[in-house]
Amino acid sequence: MVELAFSILAADFTHLADEIARAERGGGTIVHVDVMDGHFVPNITFGPPVVEAVRRVTKLPLDCHLMIEDPDKFIPDFAAAGADMISVHVEVCRHLNRTLQLIADQGVQPAVVLNPATPVEIVFEVLPMVHHVLVMSVNPGFGGQKFLPRSLDRIAHLRRLRHELGLNYRIEVDGGVADDTVEQVVRAGADMLVAGSAVFAEGKTEENARELLRIARRATEVSV
Ligand code: DX5
Ligand code: ZN
Repeated sequence: MVELAFSILAADFTHLADEIARAERGGGTIVHVDVMDGHFVPNITFGPPVVEAVRRVTKLPLDCHLMIEDPDKFIPDFAAAGADMISVHVEVCRHLNRTLQLIADQGVQPAVVLNPATPVEIVFEVLPMVHHVLVMSVNPGFGGQKFLPRSLDRIAHLRRLRHELGLNYRIEVDGGVADDTVEQVVRAGADMLVAGSAVFAEGKTEENARELLRIARRATEVSV
């Protein structure tokens, strides 16, 4: 089942609760929260207080994508703020197994993220312990970037591995997912679709979400 994880990074922050409600009415089932620290990525966004505020206005699961150095230091705060899933970048984790275990110990679903230049194989050993693997299909830091086509092979690779290893982690894709790319993304094997600008564009949040999901689900029907 393909799900839409809408990224609030592209929402109108002056009406965040309404924007979330609109994306949910359009079929979105996960709130994707992009946390940036100005070190790991060249941008700054939200911290735990925003996660806590979002927690109060929706029952949907909160998927916190930590684009930060030293995530271990902040994982307990994001968990306490109400995160349901926390993903960390493999590029910043010296002890990835320990960090994922720390997330799980807080009662939160652990996940790992791969930048576009990071080989998929590097997460092989932790695949049995993650809820999902997040494949970045742009370089992290900003919304509204162009989808990198090589991501498709990476998604397919993770789907193959899941089958070969008999695991059931989910495959999430983040960056440039829009009406013109989502079909290929789903065919390659993604089952959690992150989309920011494609959902929150032009004040038509609900319609945009519905249309993106329509295209995504049509792609699953015809794929084998
Ligand atoms: C990029 C973030 C993404 C971003 C997606 O660093 O992780 O979640 O908000 O934005 P779009 O869908 O606009 O590419
Ligand atoms: Zn993200």
